[in-house]
Amino acid sequence: MAVKLSVRNVYKIFGEKTGAALGMLEAGKSKEEILEATGATVGVRDASFDVGEGEIFVVMGLSGSGKSTLVRMLNGLIQPTSGSIMIDGVDVANCSKEQLRRIRREKIAMVFQHFALFPHWSVADNAAYGLKIKGVAANERREKALKALEQVGLTAWADSLPSELSGGMQQRVGLARGLATGPEVLLMDEPFGALDPLIRREMQDELIALQRSLKKTIIFITHDLNEALLLGDKIAIMKDGRFVQVGTAQEIVSNPADDYVAAFVADIDRGRVFTAEDVSGEAAPVKLGEASAEDAMRVMEDLNRNALYVVDDKDKVAGVVTYQDLAAATFDESKPDPVLEEVMLTDFPTAEADQQLADLYSAASAGLPIAVTDEKDRLVGVVEPEAVFAQLSGEDADATPTETNTTNEKESAHV
Ligand SMILES: Nc1ncnc2c1ncn2[C@@H]1O[C@H](COP(=O)(O)OP(=O)(O)OP(=O)(O)O)[C@@H](O)[C@H]1O
Ligand SMILES: [Mg+2]
Repeated sequence: MAVKLSVRNVYKIFGEKTGAALGMLEAGKSKEEILEATGATVGVRDASFDVGEGEIFVVMGLSGSGKSTLVRMLNGLIQPTSGSIMIDGVDVANCSKEQLRRIRREKIAMVFQHFALFPHWSVADNAAYGLKIKGVAANERREKALKALEQVGLTAWADSLPSELSGGMQQRVGLARGLATGPEVLLMDEPFGALDPLIRREMQDELIALQRSLKKTIIFITHDLNEALLLGDKIAIMKDGRFVQVGTAQEIVSNPADDYVAAFVADIDRGRVFTAEDVSGEAAPVKLGEASAEDAMRVMEDLNRNALYVVDDKDKVAGVVTYQDLAAATFDESKPDPVLEEVMLTDFPTAEADQQLADLYSAASAGLPIAVTDEKDRLVGVVEPEAVFAQLSGEDADATPTETNTTNEKESAHV
């Protein structure tokens, strides 16, 4: 993936004595100590990261951690104290005013939490605002604004006034305004922060759906870790101007870098972070027409599983056999050689690899392992119910069905 935005060693110190403040930072002094001694505020401290084309990079942190300062530097609203910010090879931290103006017009758009909709302008005119500033002609503005409104599902409201829309819809007008100018990089500073939780969830899902076709490079700011984990291809967690951890949702939740991150992670909805793939173990299927009941039982003993999936000659899932059923059939003298086909259950739970664990909860409760299948119904993995519950509870994040003694490990963890 091509790198769209590359930030290196960016600092922003607010105040007069930036040199002294930088020196104190290097000496390991805290933000408070520096403020006290120099009157300068550390906004951002040594931020470095790359964002690939089409990626969503989320910056998460408490109030005052430096999120807005960071995004404002990305579009040149604030000049960094030092460091470089390359967008398509141009350093917006150190380029001419003319270059900066061009990049801001052509490449970047910003969506805020509190963007101002003009109350007496139609929704379409509001969406066209950025185009108007750019000096685009009226009919072209209208055309582009309508296209952006269509993307956010507001076509029918183009000629309404903002007051006729709900808060969530107004926020979509803000998004349409950002999209109308056709930016390659979208900076979103807490865009959903003012929405109530249900609408917020809806907007998050819509952004994910929209991004599938838009494929913009997005920098998204939030102080909600659930939102960060849901949206971010990569997430940076900020504290006192510094990145304390950068990683994927799974990396951060499985392995918080410090107590600060761990405290956030404690509250998150793990069912929305992890997917079937994260807890799935080896498929280890038995082949229909090839394996005998005894073969299947031996594999189960080796893998310490009590059920296995049966696949046909095209690796398509045909059913699942349990140890219990096979054992019962084998010991039945009247049926000396049971075949898998007779014993297997054809009603079994399935999941796709990228399905959220929250969706697997009821399937896992049924007790059978879940077949993870690809688009051609081929078996690619198996999720044991215990692995789902362990990952949801965070008790044993690394548990996989192929590991033995997961129960014992869990028990000993409580001793
Ligand atoms: N123009 C400024 N002058 C002086 N200090 C500033 C300025 N802007 C921000 N700061 C300071 O820089 C730090 C980071 O502020 P910033 O607004 O980037 O935080 P934030 O993470 O966006 O917070 P919030 O979640 O409240 O929006 C804070 O200590 C803030 O007081
Ligand atoms: Mg902010």
